[in-house]
Amino acid sequence: MKNIDSVGHVRGESIYLDDIPVRTGTLYALVYDAPCAHARIKNVDYSKAEALPGVVRILTHQDIPGENEIGNIFQDEPLLAENEIHFWGMSIALIIAESEYIARQAKKLISIELDELPVITDPREARTKNSLIAPPRTFKMGDAESAWSACEYIFEGTADTNGQEHLYIESQGAYAYPTEHGSIRISSSTQGPTQVQKAVARVLDIPMHKVEVDVTRLGGGFGGKEDQATAWGVLVALAAQILKRPVKYSLHRMDDMRMTGKRHPYSSDYKIGLSKDLKILAYEATFHQNAGASADLSPAVLERTLFHATNMYFVPNVEVTAYSCRTHLPPNTAFRGFGGPQGMFVIEAAISRAANELGIAAREIQARNILQEGDEFPYGQKTEKCEAQKVWDTTLEAYNIEQIEQEIATFNSENKHYKKGVAIMPVCFGISFTNTPMNNARALVHIYQDGSVGISTGGVEMGQGLNTKMVQVAMAEFSIPAHRIKIETTNTTRVANTSPSAASATADLNGKALEQACRALKKRLIETAAKHLQSNSSDISIEDEFVFNKNKKMDIGWEKLVQLAFLNRVCLSENGHYSTPVIHFDKAKEKGHPFAYHVYGNSITVVTVDCLRGRYEVDAVKLVHDFGKKMNTPIDDGQIEGGVVQGIGWMTMEELLYNDKGRLLSNALSTYKIPDIYSVPKDLIIKNLDAEGHPLAIRQSKAVGEPPLMYGIGAYFAIQNAVKAFNPNYDLKFDAPFTPEKVLMGLYENVEKGSLVDAVLKHES
Ligand code: MTE
Ligand code: HPA
Ligand code: MOS
Repeated sequence: MKNIDSVGHVRGESIYLDDIPVRTGTLYALVYDAPCAHARIKNVDYSKAEALPGVVRILTHQDIPGENEIGNIFQDEPLLAENEIHFWGMSIALIIAESEYIARQAKKLISIELDELPVITDPREARTKNSLIAPPRTFKMGDAESAWSACEYIFEGTADTNGQEHLYIESQGAYAYPTEHGSIRISSSTQGPTQVQKAVARVLDIPMHKVEVDVTRLGGGFGGKEDQATAWGVLVALAAQILKRPVKYSLHRMDDMRMTGKRHPYSSDYKIGLSKDLKILAYEATFHQNAGASADLSPAVLERTLFHATNMYFVPNVEVTAYSCRTHLPPNTAFRGFGGPQGMFVIEAAISRAANELGIAAREIQARNILQEGDEFPYGQKTEKCEAQKVWDTTLEAYNIEQIEQEIATFNSENKHYKKGVAIMPVCFGISFTNTPMNNARALVHIYQDGSVGISTGGVEMGQGLNTKMVQVAMAEFSIPAHRIKIETTNTTRVANTSPSAASATADLNGKALEQACRALKKRLIETAAKHLQSNSSDISIEDEFVFNKNKKMDIGWEKLVQLAFLNRVCLSENGHYSTPVIHFDKAKEKGHPFAYHVYGNSITVVTVDCLRGRYEVDAVKLVHDFGKKMNTPIDDGQIEGGVVQGIGWMTMEELLYNDKGRLLSNALSTYKIPDIYSVPKDLIIKNLDAEGHPLAIRQSKAVGEPPLMYGIGAYFAIQNAVKAFNPNYDLKFDAPFTPEKVLMGLYENVEKGSLVDAVLKHES
């Protein structure tokens, strides 16, 4: 089934925040944000800005009726700065004007006096200064300490990954207007409507039932709108409440890039120990997460780093510790993979280091340590329906890894200025919010008198194809075609207390809630038909829009059946609820069964490096992915393609740069390079693993949103192998992204006289 949004997207008919017609009297908001990263505010002079014609009001923290607080996990995040600035771009005041243009003019008229304070941008420095968001956490299994003595080989080092700008096409924004009885309605580009509702209630000091949040769809979120859409929703709500007028704010790209948090940069240490036959006996790692100025989702992201620290390998002795370090960067936040990629990169770096030292291919180590059925993860959960070995073997066989390696060896021996490299990147990703209570959802279904169906869920469509999957679920339950089904906007008055659309679990959670609702309704319809036909419910079924009695097609179509039920005063609305069974986690012991299931996959990445220029191309990413029983091929393959390219971007070109004063230098698309159509692997092959899926996945179709991003990690190691093929004296470095500049430096470091590199440098042919 095609994505139900495709036509609307192509024709520009799909409605995003900026497509909502503005109401008469709408005002426009603009944040006045901090011009440095850490300072005490002595004085802000708004007088000139306030005097500008068209400026209606400038709001500061003093105008907030409730709490000046939008922190979610910890309450450490003011909506508007009070006496201190904690990061460059922190909101200080909100300018409200008759037009956006006037608001921008007014902003230039504001002046500020500051006492600047020392700035920390580096997480390791933050740790030394004990600037932590929360106490560190450690996951432990076996006894790494005593296992070292049994190891034949031990390797240690550091591995760093940089952050990543979400670059959702639709920037952050919200639109609010007052309704009756002191209530407020907000259209928000958020993954978490309830998060916005809760924060608005707290800041305005009104009950949650007076706050209605509505979301049609997002032009992408990628985690950047799980928590960080909240501030903008609250700001417009605050202004609308105070001024009793509609207020809109949609951020300009550079403002969004400067003011919002990103993927967390990590700086990590690893130690890996192997036996003579390449079994990983022990693994230790210390992760330093650059959380930025406030907690946001950092503690949850940190947790997932620990959950995925051993990726798809079984390691008997593990000790991994993670520090969430408070710095003066914008608060970093969820981003596809949610800390998992940062954890996986480190163990892949450790394996790559070991392989390099031992003079073998990394895959020889990877292959000997693949998770098996019943193996325990360091957090206590054991694998069930483990597809790891199968997905590993299928990939290597289906794409013939030996042949690929042979072709690369031949190419490299025949070409002096171009070298190819290959790497294998397996992925094992846990599905569920790691915070168990969040794993629940609801769906509201109405069947109207004419047989058409309206569905509301707590899930947000952000391009991942959720709505199409929800239509598929209802189609399957009722046995009716798509045109009878409409997906409504996500709205807190129809579906309350929602978890954000995140953790790749949206279709599972909301789809299962939807199934519950549909099944309850279908049961009533079948009872109606049974009564009408004077038959037993157990003999009645609905297939292809018709009632069947004892497998015989009756003259009762879907519409007639719904009419019958309506005339019999049967309730044609239902609210479904689902909460994931089985899962639990004990944070005191750091053990439990946090995930409903795992998604497995494996990929082969081949790159070509231009050894004169340091540029590279990704020739191919060939992968086998465990979709389970895939319910929508175009959508799920689209998720893989997008994830792979986004992962390659993170690993190879997206270079976030803050100066030592905490100012974002890569603050626009002219200085921050994201993958474009030319960065897409020339060959991107997706094969489905032949697998049965999982009963906790929607229709056995496993979650697909985040896992593919981590295939992109393969590009880092493939480039590294190509660099090594050119310059054997290259010292392995694990410092992503591997930008063309770093590639070039690597190609020409430690040059030996008479070597190939030396010859190229001297232009010898
Ligand atoms: N795909 C598109 N097109 N746009 C997005 O914003 N977000 C990703 C992923 N794929 C995203 C996307 C992230 S971070 C998550 S958690 C999942 O989709 C969320 O949707 P799901 O739970 O329905 O998979
Ligand atoms: N994944 C994504 N988002 C989340 C999670 C998670 O595990 N926990 C809280 N928000
Ligand atoms: Mo996704 S990072 O869980 O929004």
